[in-house]
Amino acid sequence: MFSKRTNWKLTPNRFTEAERELRAAGREVLDLTLCNPTRAELHYDSDAILQALNNPKAMDYDPQPKGLLSAREAVANYYRKQHDDVDPESILLTTSTSEGYSYVFRLLCNPDDEILVLKPSYPLFDFLADLQDVKLVPYPLIYDHGWQIDFPSLSKAVSDRTRAVVAVHPNNPTGSFVSNAERQKLNQFCRQHNLSLIADEVFLDYAHDGAPRPSFAANQDVLTFTLSGLSKISGLPQMKVAWIVSSGPTDKVTAALGRLEIIADTYLSMNAPIQLATPVLLEQGKSIQPLLLDRLRTNLAELDRQLTLQKTCQRLQLEGGWYALLRVPVTQSDEDLAIELLREVSVLVHPGHFYDFPSDGYLITSLITPPKDFRAGVERVLGRLNP
Ligand SMILES: Cc1ncc(COP(=O)(O)O)c(C=O)c1O
Repeated sequence: MFSKRTNWKLTPNRFTEAERELRAAGREVLDLTLCNPTRAELHYDSDAILQALNNPKAMDYDPQPKGLLSAREAVANYYRKQHDDVDPESILLTTSTSEGYSYVFRLLCNPDDEILVLKPSYPLFDFLADLQDVKLVPYPLIYDHGWQIDFPSLSKAVSDRTRAVVAVHPNNPTGSFVSNAERQKLNQFCRQHNLSLIADEVFLDYAHDGAPRPSFAANQDVLTFTLSGLSKISGLPQMKVAWIVSSGPTDKVTAALGRLEIIADTYLSMNAPIQLATPVLLEQGKSIQPLLLDRLRTNLAELDRQLTLQKTCQRLQLEGGWYALLRVPVTQSDEDLAIELLREVSVLVHPGHFYDFPSDGYLITSLITPPKDFRAGVERVLGRLNP
């Protein structure tokens, strides 16, 4: 009765089941996987945010497939502040980065065409690909004095069905940016194989050293789709505003935009109040980002402080984003370890295998957890791992 593409295993995994059991039993759980900024005890200017949604102009229906120009201009302005000149006409609004991926996969791929995606990375890719009948072919990041793209493996992964390469800048959960040298090589690789580049930059503004990294939004060498949105830029995932910036050789960009516009016109998924509020919501990034960056640095410093007091676990280097990676002794699978930590010390951390790590021995913690919970959670985890 149902399509093969929806043949997912619908039962919860063992980790989720263990969490449910614990919560149902009324046990307090320290959540070191928290990635929802609206639940991270941050101060939002709720008056400004809610007032922006109350705009009388929202009574007019003005269907614009790429999104209202005022909202696209605000997005172009966000890039201009980072010294990248982005034409509002090259921007198309979507309700989420995930929707942006779907549009781009739809634009580029016939059924069973291939997209090269980095590994380890964000687990949602698998579902996005299933839904668009696209095959994901992984290329590895390797850890050697920081995370790097394994270019020889990338070259081996390409086939005549490959349509694009995904780069996540910085990647979730490795926290590694695409370096300038890697960017050049990626461009070269895409040119050589006639591929597009898809750059996911939702965490671009969260560099731990405070040094801004260049966006791909102005990348001109190859056809590039840069995805980002308010969920991380302004810490407002509930507002559902994201975008695709198309850049590259003019003829290709014009052709891509024409087609993307028809995809977007088919759904017209952006609503009026949110588009009218987008300039104000983007501005909120200026007040929420310093709070989040402060939170990331506080938690990272606390993690490092506690790590110096023991010997069994290490933190992997990271440059940006909201997560930290712990290398832990391999005495069992990461999933078993995470379940044990949940049952024995009531702390939620993600096992590496959720993000397709090539081997066991990795745990992931969110760095936006409120510091009190973070400190106590790390104490319990390290205590358990250093008996
Ligand atoms: C790398 C990456 N891309 C995209 C997203 C999703 O963004 P959005 O809320 O805009 O769909 C996430 C969410 O955590 C993410 O980690």
